[in-house]
Amino acid sequence: MTAPAIATDVLVSMRDIEFSYGQLQVLFGVSVDVRQGEALALLGTNGAGKSTLLKVLCGLAQASAGSVHLRDEDITRAAAEGLPGKGLVLISGGRSVFPDMTVAENLEMQAFTVRKRKAWVKERTNYVLTLFPRLGERMGQAAGVLSGGEQQQLALAKALLLEPDVLCIDELSLGLAPIVVQGLIEMVREVHRSGVTVVLVEQSLNIAASLCERAVFMEKGQVRFEGPTRELLENDDIARAVFLGKA
Ligand SMILES: Nc1ncnc2c1ncn2[C@@H]1O[C@H](COP(=O)(O)OP(=O)(O)OP(=O)(O)O)[C@@H](O)[C@H]1O
Ligand SMILES: [Mg+2]
Repeated sequence: MTAPAIATDVLVSMRDIEFSYGQLQVLFGVSVDVRQGEALALLGTNGAGKSTLLKVLCGLAQASAGSVHLRDEDITRAAAEGLPGKGLVLISGGRSVFPDMTVAENLEMQAFTVRKRKAWVKERTNYVLTLFPRLGERMGQAAGVLSGGEQQQLALAKALLLEPDVLCIDELSLGLAPIVVQGLIEMVREVHRSGVTVVLVEQSLNIAASLCERAVFMEKGQVRFEGPTRELLENDDIARAVFLGKA
């Protein structure tokens, strides 16, 4: 086991989280700490509860028990709309852009969700567009006509517009060609290098390992492993479980 993180090191702390969809309990006492500045992979079999845990973290689902803290603040019952303003931003596989709105409108809408000065929004938008020049060329087009990879770029751009401290990503690679995924992963790596803490839910162990030094492996609503991602890769049972889950 790795040594427990010292308190000041922890940016997000989820403690003993329980969650049910109606009668169906899917999280059973899940505790995960996210350390300042790290990239943490959240891995597991299909239906293990990874997406649900991200929803609980980002206020989209209410835990029936347990607590979520962001720094010293208890955000267990915080409304989802308020969390981006506190630095917690979620990109959720393929559902993060409005297809009927233009690229520009998508970015404007996003900026609207955090109460910031116009000048700040303008500067931040320009910065984000330097990261994704392709989007800058397509500002007037409907997001729905962009390719899958470009839509994920837009999803990333929208998230970065909010200047997150913690960027939670649920299945960035969903349905995309490996070459496209590689480009997105490089972007996320850059974002992480710039100091943003990343929580990455991924089906691909390779992607997780290329980006995240530490991993949490979940199965049936519980944490089964927590430690360096490479140790997880060396654990045949876990590697097989993730791999089979993908098939
Ligand atoms: N809206 C919902 N209503 C009812 N049950 C749900 C709902 N969303 C998820 N579940 C169930 O909760 C469990 C956990 O789902 P979750 O989506 O969190 O898993 P996951 O680890 O993200 O899986 P995957 O790798 O397939 O994305 C599953 O059994 C799933 O069927
Ligand atoms: Mg999921």
